[in-house]
Amino acid sequence: MQNDNNIHPIFGRLLQREDKESLLKQKSICIWMTGLSGSGKSTIAEGLEKKLHQNGILSMVLDGDNIRSGINKNLSFSEEDRTENIRRIAEINKLFLDCGIITINCFVSPTLDIREQAKNIIGDADFNEIYINASFDECAKRDVKGLYAKALKGEIKNFTGLDAPFEAPKNPSLEIKTAELSIEESIDKIYNHFINKIKQ
Ligand code: ADX
Repeated sequence: MQNDNNIHPIFGRLLQREDKESLLKQKSICIWMTGLSGSGKSTIAEGLEKKLHQNGILSMVLDGDNIRSGINKNLSFSEEDRTENIRRIAEINKLFLDCGIITINCFVSPTLDIREQAKNIIGDADFNEIYINASFDECAKRDVKGLYAKALKGEIKNFTGLDAPFEAPKNPSLEIKTAELSIEESIDKIYNHFINKIKQ
């Protein structure tokens, strides 16, 4: 266990978030997508990142499968490890936000508590929750990664929506029903919702 008395952060001596934001001519915000595996979070993130880029806005996509193959490769899908997964990701968000960069997060982040933790670390003012809503049956039908077939055969334990919980957000900034909207429409809806907040 580290001794916090021996840690001396230098945050106050560094250039501030506002300095980076004015360099980039944008305000940084955290866009946090939550939803079942296969609901469309990563696909939307890919398009949203491109659209922001084309409009001169710098963003960073943080995605469950990417983060879990690198910095969080030691974490499982137990409740405890999912909590640690999201805690680290929330801290990573703060680093990007302090650099003036928009974060686009794609994490199942399945429970109210887990997302509350993220909001508390990132800060209420920056945290914008989007519910990417597709039903378990719809995601199982798409099954892009073949995980639903495996989970339904009992080959994956603690699978969200099956033998691990998913709690829908109570009051998200936005809800996107990916069975009803095209990918383009979903991206545009998110872009239009946030662009005024981002543009300086
Ligand atoms: S979270 O619950 O800790 O937020 P995260 O978003 O990082 O999850 O990772 C989810 C991705 O891991 C899914 O999109 C899927 O590809 C993969 N995955 C593997 N096992 C599971 C599981 N048991 N439950 C959910 N997703 C899983």
